[in-house]
Amino acid sequence: MTAAANRYGLTFRQDYFSDPAAWAALVALLEDTFGIDVSIQDRFGGPDPSSMPFGCFDEGGVCTANFSAFSMPMTIDGRVVKAAGFQSGAVRPQWRGKGLYRDLMNRAFGWSDEQGFELGILLTDKPAMYEPYGFTVVPQRKFVGAPPLERRLAGTAHGLSLDTAADIALIRRVLRERTPVSSVFAVAAQAEMFLLNGFFDPDVGLTYLDQFQAVVAWKEDETSFQLLDIAGKTIPPLSAILGALDRRPGRVEVCFPPDRLDWQGTPETFETDISLMVRGSAAVPAGPVMLSPMAEF
Ligand SMILES: CC(C)(COP(=O)(O)OP(=O)(O)OC[C@H]1O[C@@H](n2cnc3c(N)ncnc32)[C@H](O)[C@@H]1OP(=O)(O)O)[C@@H](O)C(=O)NCCC(=O)NCCS
Repeated sequence: MTAAANRYGLTFRQDYFSDPAAWAALVALLEDTFGIDVSIQDRFGGPDPSSMPFGCFDEGGVCTANFSAFSMPMTIDGRVVKAAGFQSGAVRPQWRGKGLYRDLMNRAFGWSDEQGFELGILLTDKPAMYEPYGFTVVPQRKFVGAPPLERRLAGTAHGLSLDTAADIALIRRVLRERTPVSSVFAVAAQAEMFLLNGFFDPDVGLTYLDQFQAVVAWKEDETSFQLLDIAGKTIPPLSAILGALDRRPGRVEVCFPPDRLDWQGTPETFETDISLMVRGSAAVPAGPVMLSPMAEF
């Protein structure tokens, strides 16, 4: 299975993040491929320690191809499922079409099977590429409705900034202690993506509700209030969130199953070019689900 890298005089490396030069080479590959700078994670405590990168490097140390797995335990229908996320899949243009990615996918999926992960999860704009490996698309639904009639005012709320060290520390602590935002389908433990997604999207508001020891991630436009995620020791009801944020929207969109919000919305198709795909024995709920945008990877 070493075939492709060897055939082209490349070196295959696995689990290489402890080598700063190799990590920098991956940062460059992802910057060149997707235009995002993942080295910003150094500010938030570094890459996910559970990351297992699989990469090809040329003689000069350039990372020509990569695909990474990481641990992302999920709560699904009330049970914690040992799940692996797959991300950072990229091959430099001059190296494409040679089977490098096929090799890396085989290695990454084989490794996750050996590790006993029950479920593999990925997000992609190329679902056909992953179907031969057993991945199937899970349609995503957001939950839409009128806000609760009553607005509860409880405790205090203050805005957080990912430019402030104290706020980053608070968010990291809350993420470590979080209760999954939904018992139907939600990340049980994984901090890095929440921070990275909050950083990359300047429209995301992050507000701390002290009574619930919870960080609420939200957005709004002229027509609706969008609840993206809640990282908290306890999950506040929607009425308390709107009260604390002093919002009176005409319509609310919740971007995860709202079973813990003391509110019900109508599932609506979530329009996106990116497919959520899963593979493995752990069943995904038959009912409507959405992976919080703060967990996207
Ligand atoms: C997509 C990408 C990683 C493929 O890398 P690659 O090394 O050229 O892929 P390979 O040559 O190993 O091909 C692997 C398989 O995927 C298929 N494939 C490649 N590109 C594909 C695409 N755009 N859509 C669907 N299938 C594709 C190939 O046909 C091949 O199938 P086979 O094993 O049945 O022959 C590379 O084109 C890339 O970096 N693109 C930009 C970033 C990107 O889209 N990353 C994936 C994010 S989910």
